[in-house]
Amino acid sequence: MTYQNYSLKQLQTIDAAHHLHPFTDHRDLRAAGTRVITRADGPFIYDSEGNEILDGMAGLWCVAVGYGREELAKAAYEQMKELPYYNSFFRCTTPTPALLAQKLAEIAPKNINQVFFGSSGSESNDTALRLVRHYWALEGKPKKNRIISRQSAYHGSTIAGASLGGMTGMHDQLGGAVPNIVHVMPPYSYQFGMQGESDHEFGLRAAKAVEDAIVEAGPDNVAAFIGEPIMGAGGVRIPPASYWPEIQRICRKHDVLLMLDEVITGYGRTGNWFAAQTFGLEPDTITTAKALTSGYQPLSALLVGDRIASAIVEKGGEFFHGYTYSGHPVACAVALKNLEIIEREGLIERVRDDTGPYLAQALQERIAGHPLVGEVRAIGLMGAIEIVKRKDTRERFMPAGSAAITVRDHAVANGIMIRATGDTMIMSPPLIWTRDTIDMAIERILKALDFAAADLAKK
Ligand SMILES: Cc1ncc(COP(=O)(O)O)c(C=O)c1O
Repeated sequence: MTYQNYSLKQLQTIDAAHHLHPFTDHRDLRAAGTRVITRADGPFIYDSEGNEILDGMAGLWCVAVGYGREELAKAAYEQMKELPYYNSFFRCTTPTPALLAQKLAEIAPKNINQVFFGSSGSESNDTALRLVRHYWALEGKPKKNRIISRQSAYHGSTIAGASLGGMTGMHDQLGGAVPNIVHVMPPYSYQFGMQGESDHEFGLRAAKAVEDAIVEAGPDNVAAFIGEPIMGAGGVRIPPASYWPEIQRICRKHDVLLMLDEVITGYGRTGNWFAAQTFGLEPDTITTAKALTSGYQPLSALLVGDRIASAIVEKGGEFFHGYTYSGHPVACAVALKNLEIIEREGLIERVRDDTGPYLAQALQERIAGHPLVGEVRAIGLMGAIEIVKRKDTRERFMPAGSAAITVRDHAVANGIMIRATGDTMIMSPPLIWTRDTIDMAIERILKALDFAAADLAKK
């Protein structure tokens, strides 16, 4: 590889001169310098200094089958030789998106049989928004176009994604969001639960916030509710068990479509193909991306329920939407092979029956008692650690988010990549992790917490 002719310093200088990074304060980045990741294998990433780092984030929630999979490289290579690109416009298709769509229909909840491809989660949420509004227009109800979402939700970074999301910092920079999207309270009891309220009651109250928003607008004006089954970037917020069934009941009662954003939770993370199955839901759309190819190729798939799909097919008329790379043959070939690996190696069953429960137990028994930790949460192979100054009062360190960054920096220095979001440490490792990998991760996280506690005590 040609990059090997460059020193670390040269790569950092070139990067700083020309490369604008996502979600980054570039003044800070240039002062701190970038870490250059040069290769990866199995559960580990390696930087240009040769440091081995256990990847507790599966890249960015995506590398489900781990790194260094020859089979995926071969699938891409073979497809590139055969047919590197052709589009799905002009009444054409290519074999791999057709076969992938069939496979996705097989593993999705039973009311879902159609797929619309894109290249990223943000793009597919754009598709989802366009599609549900188009659906209601086809049904003769063009005014039924309000979308209910939640504060702190993350649905991507395009204008549609950021508008659907509930990140105020992103809204402030939009210069005008997509109209008619409102955001209600998220189902996050650690922050919004009231004294004496059970988790069950809180879940129902959080769902009622959605119903209130529907009633306030008038159900004839509300197209859909969108939510991540588990809010990921917002801090791995796991809703109480009462929340999702109640949301589904409310949506059905008011004839409001249910849109799930499973960009993070799709393809095994919660111990089922989709979190919709974990929570017993039959949504009208499911946005997926990331682990669909384990990140080896950019690809997203919007899974479209029969209700919307039949209206589009039966009523006809062109849906004026799509991308050059919708159904990219190479990305779809890689996805097919990736899903085959997930199935062949029983990764989903492993998460459901073994590593998921083991991670939850390890966090509870070995991390929750640390003086810096206010709460731990886990579901499947997703975990969160709340960093607090005082456990009893849940007081946070100031400025907000700074303590989690301190923990993150010590974590990376001690050989584990976990992410800081607000005052929460989050993890979402490759599904290939075993009990031993989890033990290794827990030891490294504990070390990081100890070092961080010592640093924070000085402040
Ligand atoms: C729930 C959710 N939706 C959408 C997206 C956006 O996906 P992408 O970054 O591929 O556009 C993300 C990214 O992390 C996500 O977590």
